[in-house]
Amino acid sequence: MGCELTAGGAAIVVVGAGPQALCLCAQLLRKRPRWRRHLRVIDPAGAWLSRWRRQMHRLEVPMLRSPAPHHPHPNPNALRDYAHGRGRGHQLHGPFGQPHTGLFSDFCQQLIDSENLAALVRPGQVRELRLAPCRSGPLELSLASGERLQARQLVLACGPGEPRWPAWALDLPPLHPPAALQHSRTLNLPALGRLDGQRVLVVGGGLTSGHLALGALERGATVELLCRRRLRAQPFDSDPGWLGPKRLKAFAAEPSWQRRRQLVRQARGGGSLTPEVRHRLEQARRGGRLRLHEQIEVRQLHWGGSHWQVACSDGSALTVERIWLATGHQQGVSHQPLLRQLQRQRPLELVDDWPVLSPELGWGGAGVFVMGGLSALQLGPAAATIHGGREGARRITAGLLHRCPPASATVLGSGAESLRAAPER
Ligand SMILES: Cc1cc2nc3c(=O)[nH]c(=O)nc-3n(C[C@H](O)[C@H](O)[C@H](O)COP(=O)(O)OP(=O)(O)OC[C@H]3O[C@@H](n4cnc5c(N)ncnc54)[C@H](O)[C@@H]3O)c2cc1C
Ligand SMILES: NC(=O)c1ccc[n+]([C@@H]2O[C@H](COP(=O)([O-])OP(=O)(O)OC[C@H]3O[C@@H](n4cnc5c(N)ncnc54)[C@H](OP(=O)(O)O)[C@@H]3O)[C@@H](O)[C@H]2O)c1
Repeated sequence: MGCELTAGGAAIVVVGAGPQALCLCAQLLRKRPRWRRHLRVIDPAGAWLSRWRRQMHRLEVPMLRSPAPHHPHPNPNALRDYAHGRGRGHQLHGPFGQPHTGLFSDFCQQLIDSENLAALVRPGQVRELRLAPCRSGPLELSLASGERLQARQLVLACGPGEPRWPAWALDLPPLHPPAALQHSRTLNLPALGRLDGQRVLVVGGGLTSGHLALGALERGATVELLCRRRLRAQPFDSDPGWLGPKRLKAFAAEPSWQRRRQLVRQARGGGSLTPEVRHRLEQARRGGRLRLHEQIEVRQLHWGGSHWQVACSDGSALTVERIWLATGHQQGVSHQPLLRQLQRQRPLELVDDWPVLSPELGWGGAGVFVMGGLSALQLGPAAATIHGGREGARRITAGLLHRCPPASATVLGSGAESLRAAPER
């Protein structure tokens, strides 16, 4: 390993147990199996992929958008091998092999079981983080339970920021029932009954808007799909060149952070649907059950007791019983509580609220690494996806190996449960 572990050190703590954190733990432990005892993952669910599974179930997402090599196992062929080895090759779609959601979930579970990764996760919501006053000291985390935990290195893999609510949906008088206006983050399609005779306004132009529109149609509703630009269809969020060296090499060579920010924005170009979902929506449009409103925004809402009156930017008006927001999530340091705290304690250059991390995704030498969408100035437009998780894991693993690992984690506070590691052999 090249450096000695000291008994007074602390563990690597990963906040969040989503797909990105799973990429990291699988890669790190493949490189350094004996670091297992120094690694802890904290997530409110106390289990891997809880939020990911919930969102796929609630939005009835039948398959992933990302291709077969994008998964948390260090070997990119592992998902294909798993599928073919179990006679489930038909659950990989098209030339890119996009996996069925169930296949992907089972594959991840097999990875978790075979590497005994479930044992790394403990339940908890990290509320506060405090950097050490001197650079060599441990960081301290406070959990919602009141427990405190020390860590030598911290990885934030908390997923996207807060749901994005358009201005017109904020500060409405509390007259409507909650179910009349919901964001995709909290919508639960399987829990809804039939919606026959109801009109649902779906706002947004990303793939979530497509799934919500299809979910409403399947339940018998008619749909008004309102998109602030033209609806676009493409297999992935951005050009596949952004998933490999073709575009990322030039991106990495770009010295201006502002320009990188611009490149990410342009590469994504807003939300998009897959051609399959676009086709199904088009069929519904032809059948008269879906109306598409492009390049239009909502201006104002009024709840009339049993339905919404919606005034639109082109002067038209809509009447609907439900409004579903598929407007994505806020991305920026100011929208992530732990990153806000970090920025207060160790200010880092921000470009349009995105942090300028080190190439290993480190936060200015603070012993903190950041995974997910906010690593986009280093990883490019796919940073928030599973592809970004793989690349982020590779870089953070390199960073952790370089920094020399911690020896244990210690829970502070009353009745302190010790996570102190056994001596290193
Ligand atoms: C419907 C939908 C479908 C998608 N499909 C794809 C796809 O096919 N392919 C693809 O590549 N990407 C897809 N994405 C993007 C997707 O969000 C990511 O792939 C993936 O979920 C990101 O993983 P993550 O680990 O960053 O975040 P998450 O899955 O959100 O996991 C983060 C975890 O951190 C926990 N956490 C947050 N804050 C704290 C805290 N303070 N303390 C403790 N724990 C905390 C959360 O509870 C959560 O469990 C999809 C997104 C959506 C919404
Ligand atoms: N596997 C799957 O099948 C699946 C399913 C769902 C989602 N996903 C993935 O999950 C990620 C997130 O997708 P998403 O659709 O939730 O989010 P998204 O791709 O960020 O799309 C959000 C959409 O909301 C629009 N929007 C934002 N604010 C708005 C406002 N104030 N008024 C009107 N419209 C507004 C955006 O418009 P602009 O286009 O103008 O920015 C965009 O079209 C993507 O990577 C996607 O591919 C995958």
